[in-house]
Amino acid sequence: MCGIVGYVGKQKATPLILEGLKRLEYRGYDSAGVVVLQGGKFDVAKKIGRVANLEKEVAQHHLSGTYGMGHTRWATHGGVTDANAHPHVSSDGAIALIHNGVIENYAKIKKFLLTKGYSFKSETDTEVLCNLIAYHYAKEPLATNGDSRFVESVRRTLRHAEGTYGIVVMALDAPGELVTARKGSPLILGLGDGESLVASDVSAIVSRTQSVVYLKDGEIAHLTPKNFSITTLGSDAVEPVIDTVTWSIADSEMGEHAHFMEKEIFEQPIALENAMRGRFSEDGSTAQFGGLNISAGEFRTIERFMFCACGTALHACMVTEHLIESFARIPVECDYASEFRYRNAPLIPNTLFFVMSQSGETIDTLAAMREAKRKGFKVLAVNNVVGSTIAREADGGIYQHVGPEVGVASTKAFTSQLLIGAMLALYIGRMRDLSFGSGVRYVTALKGAPDLVRKTLLQAPHIREIAKRIAKYHDMLFLGRLSLFPIALEGALKMKEISSLHAEGYPAAEMKHGPIALISDQCPSVFLVPSGEIVNKIISSMQEIKSRKGPIIAIVSEGVELPAGLADETILIPECHEAVLPIVASIPVQLLSYYVAVERKCDVDKPRNLAKSVTVE
Ligand code: G6P
Repeated sequence: MCGIVGYVGKQKATPLILEGLKRLEYRGYDSAGVVVLQGGKFDVAKKIGRVANLEKEVAQHHLSGTYGMGHTRWATHGGVTDANAHPHVSSDGAIALIHNGVIENYAKIKKFLLTKGYSFKSETDTEVLCNLIAYHYAKEPLATNGDSRFVESVRRTLRHAEGTYGIVVMALDAPGELVTARKGSPLILGLGDGESLVASDVSAIVSRTQSVVYLKDGEIAHLTPKNFSITTLGSDAVEPVIDTVTWSIADSEMGEHAHFMEKEIFEQPIALENAMRGRFSEDGSTAQFGGLNISAGEFRTIERFMFCACGTALHACMVTEHLIESFARIPVECDYASEFRYRNAPLIPNTLFFVMSQSGETIDTLAAMREAKRKGFKVLAVNNVVGSTIAREADGGIYQHVGPEVGVASTKAFTSQLLIGAMLALYIGRMRDLSFGSGVRYVTALKGAPDLVRKTLLQAPHIREIAKRIAKYHDMLFLGRLSLFPIALEGALKMKEISSLHAEGYPAAEMKHGPIALISDQCPSVFLVPSGEIVNKIISSMQEIKSRKGPIIAIVSEGVELPAGLADETILIPECHEAVLPIVASIPVQLLSYYVAVERKCDVDKPRNLAKSVTVE
């Protein structure tokens, strides 16, 4: 949600900022803007639409300064207009600001500032914050602890701000300085050679430096080309921890693929190999994790698991629920993080919490985690982004290790979450009643998953042809049962997200209690049909659709024989172990939504109204 990048150094700031913004565009793409300080004034360029529009706008200006900052916006307060785009400059011209988050008490502050003579050009909460910094900057004396007036005025402002923020501030009379602060929105400092950077995401700065500092909530950093210092809102000095980013810029580039989503779909065999590397026991009968920070003894006392997440990650939790209940026989509950945080759920003792989040920054997931911790529970996180807020605040966890995921619609992160969920079920199962032999078969199956995914990916040309035929429809159903019900939900979510085609996911048998009313020759259904006992029940549901003229696309395990003529289109997936089935079945639903989106000429990597990481409520 909203991309932020700031630079102070020797290079021209604008090209570096634009390059960073392009890498951050997946965080928000309603509008973009840049400001540099040059010749004693702020030079601002901003434009609605993509960073490419901003580039054209920048060409009209001569932004040659070596200090500056830029922003890609995902609108919260105020419509998508040039005026509402960031950066904002205070009405006295002294302060420029970019902001990610929501200032909840902005109306009250605005009223106050109007009485002090400040004026506003936009409808945003950000412009209000910007003017409040200007107000303090104009008024406050030097701070007593040695901080500059600039830092102190930001600190005083933030003490009045309710809500969330990741901000970068420039002051007209402080060239070569950036002040940045966070509460609830991620910010990372990049420490380069004679230059300093700040960004909402490592990908924006990794081409300049791999030395980074993850700012924490309640901290304010002051950056100059050669130095940086961090203090708290309460004016205490902070000893920074400098981390090294382990991936390079090539990891977040598209290569020969048409879209990041396509690249990430086809990367999944390798992503799965990376996610499982070093995570099986020597005897080959169970999984092992380095960072859970919870002993086997403690695990044995757990009587219930609770999983919270949002979007695609919640679907991964739902599959994990099914596998833990099947293989470890312990009750599991899954909840939308956004609901859990407010519903004051009664929680039994000996519950172990998990959150799943690719980005580790989703605000609802973070809030659910904090709520569980506040109630005295341990919370473990499954997360892809090293150093993310969720990773740092969790009591322990499991990194997905699949590298940066740039496509807004999650694919490789999702299947690696499914894999980790399956490994957790095995780990917990082996502590209980799952036998050595069953554990060995389970491990062998998981190790074979990348090859089964490779094999399934070979169906891509066939799925592309099917996509051409279904791209014309306006509504679809995705239907599955047991561990494939969450995959049906995920298929429908993907179709909505990137193809703007209305789709619903349902348990196949539940379809007759309502959604069947939608069935006609204009509403196709995608059925997920595994082998096993349930297959005849699913075939009955397919017959119910067929007799109402609904087109059927069947994703079928090899070896299952469907009655002749029942499915209009068939996609075969390899027969596999129950723990691997959801991973393999995800591939055709991802490819189907991807090719439908391509066919419908949708902007696959930046779907309408979405953002990769939602850091506002
Ligand atoms: C957004 C994205 C979804 C994603 C969800 C959770 O809504 O559009 O694709 O699944 O956030 O993201 P997380 O980073 O917490 O997994």
